[in-house]
Amino acid sequence: MATLTVHSSYTLVSMKSIILLLLAALIPLADSRLSVSGTKFKFNNETVFLSGANLAWINYGYDFGFGYWTNTKPKIEEQFKLLKQAGGSTMRVWIHFEAVSSPLFDNRGFVTAGDDKGKFMGDFKDLFDTALKYNILVIATLWNADSKARLLGLIRNTAKLQSYIDNVLKPMATLVKGHRALGGYDIINEPEGIIYRNTVNSNKCFDTTNLNFGIGWHTQQVTYEQMLRFINWQSAAIKSADPGALVTVGIWEGRVMTDKYNMVNHYKDSCLKAAGGKEKGVLDFYSVHSYSNFPNNQFDVTSVFKHSAPDYGLDKPIVVGEFAVKYGGGGMTTNELFSYAYTHGYAGAWSWQLSENGPEQLAAITHIKDFTGNGNITIHL
Ligand SMILES: *[C@@H]1O[C@H](CO)[C@@H](O)[C@H](O)[C@H]1NC(C)=O
Ligand SMILES: *[C@@H]1O[C@H](CO)[C@@H](O)[C@H](O)[C@H]1NC(C)=O
Repeated sequence: MATLTVHSSYTLVSMKSIILLLLAALIPLADSRLSVSGTKFKFNNETVFLSGANLAWINYGYDFGFGYWTNTKPKIEEQFKLLKQAGGSTMRVWIHFEAVSSPLFDNRGFVTAGDDKGKFMGDFKDLFDTALKYNILVIATLWNADSKARLLGLIRNTAKLQSYIDNVLKPMATLVKGHRALGGYDIINEPEGIIYRNTVNSNKCFDTTNLNFGIGWHTQQVTYEQMLRFINWQSAAIKSADPGALVTVGIWEGRVMTDKYNMVNHYKDSCLKAAGGKEKGVLDFYSVHSYSNFPNNQFDVTSVFKHSAPDYGLDKPIVVGEFAVKYGGGGMTTNELFSYAYTHGYAGAWSWQLSENGPEQLAAITHIKDFTGNGNITIHL
């Protein structure tokens, strides 16, 4: 009996130390991925500013699966290296585009797999493994809003969308769950490009009568309600596989993400939930684009470059997800655009894009790399 008592209290002590050790190991683990706190990003409990760029594609639509990655990988890896050398931390990369190659569909428009060679999932994971070697966070943009039938099927038909979620999205999100190089998922690039104008709806989230100028530029294909459901379901699916993963959307302009200035924030939690019904299917941060493609090279009045982050009245971080002098920088230089984003309360800046005028963008990333006051630009993953 005595021996047994000694033995069990010894066991108890060991159990306690094991639990303490486990706790000590869990605290840094919980922190060692990008997270959101209020209107800022955190990494290792420090505020960080996501400085970087888009490298949207190497071969438009043909970068992942089907054997394409052997061509893509060395070219993306070179850009990770250059971005790190310049002092940046984040790269936005497009995955399916408008379903150009991946995912694989059957002839009824249902998704059956990533590709037909069994390579897509491994390629997706290798994107993050490769980024991690260079300390780069990747934002994976799943879709690009364009009027291709396979993508439109997923937006209009929930059974088709569910086939993508079950056969590709959840397995993808599970495979890279908690990956330190996972910056987040951007569900779709510029969804407004295929949304109907002149839609009257008593729910302001789905009404577009105030947006007739601008939206639907690719051709009008879906309602805002269908698009927001498409986003809501995928965000919820990602979070069911990886609850800590961050989700955003590549929003076309400031005017659709604010309830101020007589506009409607179509991407707020209540709009996404009203469209898709899924509680978890919301955004963790806003990512908004801005080009001065207006008369006289002026930014629109709701542009991020005409405002500071708090002006939009949002309770989440805002990243300036695309901007470029080449496509309209409002008369500002690339250095000035990056500086503006850092000094006006935004939580990140990703120029468009490294395959066009890359050196100019990298120089601007270097220009701001030691800025302070709005979070660390250097991030050690
Ligand atoms: C995280 O940062 C906050 C504010 O800087 C600080 O109060 C808190 O103690 C930190 N937490 C940890 C676990 O270091
Ligand atoms: C912030 O930058 C400093 C200096 O470069 C670095 O030591 C620190 O690790 C950085 N913080 C994070 C969260 O990476």
